[in-house]
Amino acid sequence: MSKLYISGRKRLSGDVTVQGAKNSALPVLAASVLAEGESVIYRCPLLSDTEASLRILRWLGCRAQRSGGTVLVNNGGLKRFDIPDGLMRQTRGSIVFLGAVLAAAGRVRLSLPGGCEIGLRPIDMHLEALRRLGAVIKERHGRLDCRAPHGLKGADITLPFPSVGATENVMLAACTANGTTTVTNAAKEPEICDLADYLNRCGARIKGAGGSVIVIDGVRRLHGCAHALIPDRITAATLISCAAVTGSEITLKGVIHSHLTAVVSAFEDAGCVFSAHENELTVIAPERLSSMKIVRTMPYPGFPTDAQAPLLAAASVADGTTVFIENIFENRYRHTAGLARMGADIKTEGKLAVVEGVPRLYGAPVEATDLRGAAALVTAALCAEGKTELEGVKYLERGYEGFEQVLSSLGADIAKV
Ligand code: EPZ
Repeated sequence: MSKLYISGRKRLSGDVTVQGAKNSALPVLAASVLAEGESVIYRCPLLSDTEASLRILRWLGCRAQRSGGTVLVNNGGLKRFDIPDGLMRQTRGSIVFLGAVLAAAGRVRLSLPGGCEIGLRPIDMHLEALRRLGAVIKERHGRLDCRAPHGLKGADITLPFPSVGATENVMLAACTANGTTTVTNAAKEPEICDLADYLNRCGARIKGAGGSVIVIDGVRRLHGCAHALIPDRITAATLISCAAVTGSEITLKGVIHSHLTAVVSAFEDAGCVFSAHENELTVIAPERLSSMKIVRTMPYPGFPTDAQAPLLAAASVADGTTVFIENIFENRYRHTAGLARMGADIKTEGKLAVVEGVPRLYGAPVEATDLRGAAALVTAALCAEGKTELEGVKYLERGYEGFEQVLSSLGADIAKV
């Protein structure tokens, strides 16, 4: 089991190109089962989560290979419609194969993804929406068996919550359904737009992605296409946190500014100065951060829940008190245990975390228990006095491509052993 060793208090400098978005790559790779022929996906990050998706594609009968950041999927028709537990369990993002395989093969069998480190992660909204499209879904012993005995028919669907995954599953199931589907209260995240762009390039007819009402006119078939994924806004937010806690100036390349407005605004409140030009964003951090007062995580375009952990790490060394309200997931403060071992002063209760900034954190042996929590511990270690030993690197590798190389290229003293 590898560990990260980080010696803190090194200033960062230089620039880095932000990886492609993990939360676009997973639904787009699943969507390729719907597109006959060849799809070329550019800027696909090399992550354990994306490699797990490629294994599922190969299992289903597609050819999928990677060369650097480019993934080639050749879909000559699915040979299977069931996904074994072992493959499903490797990444939660695999739940989006539900809508894609059901639409492509008329049937899909897979295991319920089950809860994870940050919450129960139910999929009731996914299942209710797919049933409205005509799916017959049986749940037994943790496995789903879904069929569309009369094919999938367009329907009007209103989501109780703008769930990203449920919106994606509906888009995938509806784009070759008979008739028109309207999704009201759809998720508006940029990754939804990225998926719609890929599907429309494949011949789908999806309008309104990015807004709260998406209209999908079913078409008969989809063909492969070439598509470059959007940059990962959460990786960008994490790198901004790393610069913020080390009083650094760094430039992020290949970003989309409009995806980062809530994150930039939070760090401006903390005293960081940003300058944007074309697809680059430079952040200049102060010697000492000021508190951000209140941070509420919300569906896009509000402050993203995935950036809460790294931002909380930055708040733990800011001057003053910051109150976090985590509105999206019920168990997303697990990283505060490791931060407390490093000297942070944090009290959590349900959705709330009250962070009293301390002058200094101190390196310590800590263990990550989820992806963004790992990012928070790395952020804290970069500004801590002394050496931090981080266990649970596998969590970091689910979402951050070569993160220790990225940070050491910016001047951090970090090594994976
Ligand atoms: C996606 O998860 C992302 N994952 C998450 O990123 C992200 O935090 C989340 O969206 C919110 O932006 C991927 O895209 C692979 P939701 P998803 O459905 O789709 C509840 C990361 O760190 N809910 O919008 O699972 C759910 O429990 C990951 O990269 C139901 O109750 O998120 C949660 O409380 C973590 N029933 C809330 O809604 C459902 O049927 C938001 O979930 C579906 C969701």
